[in-house]
Amino acid sequence: MRITPNNAGLGARIEGIDIAEPLSPADYRTVLRALGQYGVLCFPGQDLDAPQLAAFGSRFGTLEVNVANLFHAPGHPEVMILSNQRDAAGQPIGLNDAGQGWHTDMSYSTEIALANALHAKQVPQRDGRPLGDTQFRNMHAAYDDLPAEVVERLEGRVAVHDFEKFWDVMRQRPGSIRGPLTEAQKAKKPPVRQPIFRTHPITGRRVLYCNPGYAMWIEGLERTESDALLEYLFRHQAQEKYLYSHAWTPGDLLVWDNIGTCHNAVADYRPEEPRLILRVQVMATLDYAALAA
Ligand code: SIN
Repeated sequence: MRITPNNAGLGARIEGIDIAEPLSPADYRTVLRALGQYGVLCFPGQDLDAPQLAAFGSRFGTLEVNVANLFHAPGHPEVMILSNQRDAAGQPIGLNDAGQGWHTDMSYSTEIALANALHAKQVPQRDGRPLGDTQFRNMHAAYDDLPAEVVERLEGRVAVHDFEKFWDVMRQRPGSIRGPLTEAQKAKKPPVRQPIFRTHPITGRRVLYCNPGYAMWIEGLERTESDALLEYLFRHQAQEKYLYSHAWTPGDLLVWDNIGTCHNAVADYRPEEPRLILRVQVMATLDYAALAA
């Protein structure tokens, strides 16, 4: 296994390993540590079916079955299909999350996610260039750069995160296939409290855990102060120096740290430019400090 960090301060390529085969204990530890250190890992040239992707993902934690689980691989509710394509009857074959803005998956859930693992089957292209990048921001670095007075003001505070905030933003997009959340879906994902800063379970370092997709307000502050501080945190984390943009190649398996990064899927491709990705969401259900030691 060869790990080549990119020069963006976030992201690395890992080559020389077939993810269809079970990871050895030593490789597992190396991958877990690399996930904390680099935030976004690309394993190029993989060829995984849904059960193989699920088997890889589940080594790192329980796989989430999405509350609005609209599209998944046959027999595998934990493997979501992301696509902008339609079947012969004109029905969508997958969920297309592009253009939803910056967020951290599952921050709206009491139990948070460690990672996402996405495997590209089709990548849209125009003029020989890949489209539909997934962008990331480094929340370790964003925390490290915060002014001391902001850390002092917010240390120990929680923000309320709500799944519905994001869902409604996406529903309003032209061509959205999302309906309103049902009462049962809302009951499964009520607003939750999340610490604004948390200790990353692999690196042991503090991260900024507050994203514009789901964070609504900071508990215990006047609404105007809460809005101003959230606005500050969102502008701070949006600085170019924290950005890494992944340009996809079919066969990429991209695994990203959902605690130490935020992400955004770029909506720069059209319906006739097909994108097909399999995805699993790995919940933070294991003792990663012990596993990475
Ligand atoms: C996601 O948020 O998991 C989707 C990312 C993508 O489609 O690039």
